[in-house]
Amino acid sequence: MRVSKRHAIVVAVAAGLALALFLYPSHRLGRDRLPVPGRISQTARALLQTRMERHGETMAELMRRLVLFDYDAVRTDAQQIREEPWLARPLTGDATELNSALPEHFFELQDELRARALDVEHAAEQANSQRLLDGYVALAKTCMSCHRLYLEGEK
Ligand code: HEC
Repeated sequence: MRVSKRHAIVVAVAAGLALALFLYPSHRLGRDRLPVPGRISQTARALLQTRMERHGETMAELMRRLVLFDYDAVRTDAQQIREEPWLARPLTGDATELNSALPEHFFELQDELRARALDVEHAAEQANSQRLLDGYVALAKTCMSCHRLYLEGEK
């Protein structure tokens, strides 16, 4: 085997190993969950935990597929997110109603998320890369706005 060829193979194997280590979950830095903010009431906490279970998984999957311009998968994921039973607005001003533990802004962001998900769904249907790019940015803003509201309360 020629030296340069062997060298190329060594480099390729090393690069592959480095990538595998990088992608291996235990080598990732950081957490996968939002910290629980101290000011959240027990009621709101319980409500979010039961109703938003697995929320992160589907959402994160959509974001990953968006950056990869995977039109078919984006369409399916966005549709699923739109149809998810999110939290219903409180019907009455009754303080005993569980959902009134959450601020109105939370429900507005839920609506916004659905609207943004519909935008990316349409962009994916049309395989329109520019619309998909714009949709991704708008969607990411909605995710972070709601997470910030959750972590820091109304600003
Ligand atoms: C209307 C509010 C709201 C929107 C919009 C929202 N999230 Fe969340 N998200 C939450 C809350 C609240 C939690 C914490 C839930 C808990 O800890 O029980 C959370 C948690 C998460 C987590 C942590 C894992 C988990 O399942 O708890 C991830 C990841 C996540 N969200 C991703 C996203 C992404 C991506 C988007 C946008 C595509 C998004 N979220 C949009 C409210 C929202």
